[in-house]
Amino acid sequence: MLNNKTILITGGTGSFGHHFVEYVLKNYKPKKIIIYSRDEFKQFNMQNKYKEHSDILRFFIGDVRDKDRLERALKGVDYVIHAAALKQVPACEYNPIEAIKTNINGACNVIDACLDTGVKKVVALSTDKSVSPINLYGSTKMVSDKLFAAANAYSGSDGTSFAVVRYGNVAGSRGSVIPFFQNIIDNGGKELPITDYRMTRFWISLEEGVKLVVKALEEARGGEVFISKIPSFKITDLAQAMLPGCEMPEVGIREGEKLHEVMVPAEDSMRTYEYDKHYIIYPNYNWWNPDKLIPGGELVEPGFIYSSGTNKEWMSIEDIKAKLLTDLDEH
Ligand SMILES: NC(=O)c1ccc[n+]([C@@H]2O[C@H](COP(=O)([O-])OP(=O)(O)OC[C@H]3O[C@@H](n4cnc5c(N)ncnc54)[C@H](OP(=O)(O)O)[C@@H]3O)[C@@H](O)[C@H]2O)c1
Repeated sequence: MLNNKTILITGGTGSFGHHFVEYVLKNYKPKKIIIYSRDEFKQFNMQNKYKEHSDILRFFIGDVRDKDRLERALKGVDYVIHAAALKQVPACEYNPIEAIKTNINGACNVIDACLDTGVKKVVALSTDKSVSPINLYGSTKMVSDKLFAAANAYSGSDGTSFAVVRYGNVAGSRGSVIPFFQNIIDNGGKELPITDYRMTRFWISLEEGVKLVVKALEEARGGEVFISKIPSFKITDLAQAMLPGCEMPEVGIREGEKLHEVMVPAEDSMRTYEYDKHYIIYPNYNWWNPDKLIPGGELVEPGFIYSSGTNKEWMSIEDIKAKLLTDLDEH
């Protein structure tokens, strides 16, 4: 479905954007892929990395806070992936208004510009931190998720469709625990600090994240939240996989951090369908029509929660070691 189509990625120079571009170039023949982001240096590096695809790749300097620029960039675009975000929890806590301007006002601008330029489909990236949020990053992404769902109400039946893809920590992404531990190990450290011994997280590779976004582009009818079925791991097991036999002092949970991450809260179980490899939460609006249910899914049990703490699928220390070897090459 991406053949001969023009795709724009906001935040296309980030980790997700790089992997998405690589995946699409390998598997499809798009007409154009437009990278939309602010920093010219990151764009320059990406342009060099993909110079043999210069006939397909276009680089637009632009900010999602700037609706006029977005409208200019979106002329003739079929599909949009909205990946631009401020996403470091401490930075968002300390600079709340900046997080609101990028993650919330930016989402409004993307929605308005896509509606006004006749984009066919939009997939916005979300995070497990947007579920019952306890930090500003998660709160801004929760608002963004709601904005993208609600946008379907004013796009009309043949208009733009908007969906969300939600996933957990991408293994090894900037600011996450793996590079933090790796830095300690590289500097000769012999112990890895654990904020709380009970802590668990979901594990997703960039490749799995990209595939779910492509699936959402193919299948979304408007208003869905797509969620990958992925394994959980204990942070203590990650530490043992990275530095076997290490000491693990418990240092206390940090501000804005949860023991477990949740991707489907119990309150959404009445609208969550389980598919082979993913879940979909359908919207709770009176404009939403059950005809839009994607076939092949089954309603989950009332009260179902998809949490990294109660997940059915777990990674052992050996599984983590193997995944560290494969998934970290992606960055
Ligand atoms: N990485 C994870 O673990 C993870 C997990 C769950 C969900 N997500 C979500 O996935 C998305 C992509 O994450 P990522 O890991 O690829 O992030 P990333 O590597 O930090 O990339 C973010 C991108 O957004 C751009 N950007 C930031 N502010 C912008 C603005 N105001 N206007 C235009 N572009 C802007 C950045 O480029 P410039 O600075 O040059 O503008 C960069 O290209 C985010 O929405 C994030 O919330 C990520």
